[in-house]
Amino acid sequence: MVRCIVIVLICSLAVNLYLLIYLKFDSTFKNPTSSTEPAKPKHLSQNDTIILIWFWPFNKRFELKSCCSKFQIEGCHLTDDRALYKKAHGVLIHHRDIRSDLSNLPSEPRPYFQKWVWMHFESPKNTPRIAGLENLFNVTMNYRRDADISIHEQMILKTEDTKDEIFPEVLKKKNKLVCWIISNWNEEHDRVKYYNELKKHIHIELYGRRFGRALSQEGYNNVLTECKFYLSFENTKYIDYMTEKLYNPLTKGSVPVVLGPPKFIYERLLPSDSFIHVDDFKTHKELADYLLSLDKNEDQYKKFFQWREKYKVKHVDFPREHACLACHYIRNRNDYQVFTNLNKWYWDLGH
Ligand SMILES: *[C@@H]1O[C@H](CO)[C@@H](O)[C@H](O)[C@H]1NC(C)=O
Ligand SMILES: *[C@@H]1O[C@H](CO)[C@@H](O)[C@H](O)[C@H]1NC(C)=O
Repeated sequence: MVRCIVIVLICSLAVNLYLLIYLKFDSTFKNPTSSTEPAKPKHLSQNDTIILIWFWPFNKRFELKSCCSKFQIEGCHLTDDRALYKKAHGVLIHHRDIRSDLSNLPSEPRPYFQKWVWMHFESPKNTPRIAGLENLFNVTMNYRRDADISIHEQMILKTEDTKDEIFPEVLKKKNKLVCWIISNWNEEHDRVKYYNELKKHIHIELYGRRFGRALSQEGYNNVLTECKFYLSFENTKYIDYMTEKLYNPLTKGSVPVVLGPPKFIYERLLPSDSFIHVDDFKTHKELADYLLSLDKNEDQYKKFFQWREKYKVKHVDFPREHACLACHYIRNRNDYQVFTNLNKWYWDLGH
């Protein structure tokens, strides 16, 4: 903690110093003949790694100078100023904002040192594939663990001073057994088919606009707190695709019943006693019976919270963390790198 504060202090001192030097430089050596040149970016150190955010992902903006204070990543100059294209070491390009004819991608020649980072966090099923992306990108950024920059929520070791904010109090707040919040209802999805069978054997509280039960953020949190089990059913069974549908219940204190990639993939990231995988049950009724038996056995149920003694969930700060991690990655690698078969890798492999 102290070290972090010191780093943050040093960072902000450094920024101030550059600012001072620049202001001084500006006022002392202003060359009147160069006034038509584009303004130099303020406080840009010659060692800074420049990351050009080509689109604000889903139009979500954030403070550009926060890599150091938020993530202790130094030496980053994030910008959305396309005039810096020729100097940028990396260009961060959010897939969902690319037009299908590619007409809104950079059109100027790419400087030899520049890497394009393909950024994408939706499942392939919910994302149109765009022709022509095969030979454009150098670096992949995705939830998949085989991406160059893999970003996803994580269970991380607790430090001694981290307090559990919700346990064991959350146990007293339980007044529902199984809950599911679903916004994208599609009868074709495996998760809806599974639900339709499961509900024959156990009562499930359903939330979402479709059911006249839309939730505010607070309502959402309350559901996760008050339910013993939460159906963390992903919209696609796709490799490594485990989303906030899994991690939010873990944080808020309901036990996730997961449907998604195979169990061994979950087990790479989560202790196996922190979730229940539907594949472990031969029938829907078997799963229902298991949940009903846990409802009657507090000691057994409590075992699903044991991981909290050692771990906590680290959430992801989208898209700020992504831009800072892109900077960190580009800054630490000066190798030649291309990714030639993006469409095949993402849309065809890994189901
Ligand atoms: C830039 O990096 C070089 C070598 O890593 C270092 O010697 C120099 O002091 C740095 N300059 C600034 C302004 O940080
Ligand atoms: C980045 O990718 C492009 C397109 O494949 C390639 O021409 C370029 O050499 C790569 N740049 C680096 C620094 O690896």
